[in-house]
Amino acid sequence: MLGKGLQALSGWPETDYLEVVRVKQRIQVTRILTAAAVLGLGLMVAMQAQARFGTPEEIAERLKPSGELCLEGMECGAAAAEVAAGPAMSGEEVYASVCAACHDTGAAGAPRKGDTAAWGDRLNKSLDDLTASTINGLGAMPPRGGSNYSDEEIRDAVEFLVDASR
Ligand code: HEC
Repeated sequence: MLGKGLQALSGWPETDYLEVVRVKQRIQVTRILTAAAVLGLGLMVAMQAQARFGTPEEIAERLKPSGELCLEGMECGAAAAEVAAGPAMSGEEVYASVCAACHDTGAAGAPRKGDTAAWGDRLNKSLDDLTASTINGLGAMPPRGGSNYSDEEIRDAVEFLVDASR
């Protein structure tokens, strides 16, 4: 056997040599066990992190109020497109952000919000016509009131303004 040959070469008594082999084997077993333990520990930490913080989907769900989170492996196409297009603003928000400058104050001779007399015959126009003149501009009013809101947002703002002026 190899053991015997080596023993002959080293000149160690057989028992000593076998002891060395056994210690070596024990060290190897210990190494394998350590490697397994490290691997297992890593796995446990990863699983605990998942349990504590949730899956990527759950994390994204929690972050939703502050924006969309798109992690690798998630289907985010639709959500990303939605963000790119921007959520439509309500008529009231559009009005406050651009139209109020003239229609709250009467600046440039604009009919004021809530001033039914000033609105006069305009109130008989259809929402479509009023929206069209706002989009195209009318007299001292620049196209879209000088904004770049979408047709739909302008329409909602016109509706909000006119309804509040009847
Ligand atoms: C720079 C001032 C100004 C801003 C900003 C402005 N308007 Fe006007 N708007 C006017 C004036 C002035 C008129 C009257 C135009 C006329 O009849 O000559 C008018 C008229 C209108 C009319 C009546 C149109 C019609 O056909 O008679 C609507 C509806 C209207 N505005 C909606 C809006 C909305 C909605 C916004 C915001 C998106 C807006 N305006 C922003 C000045 C403004």
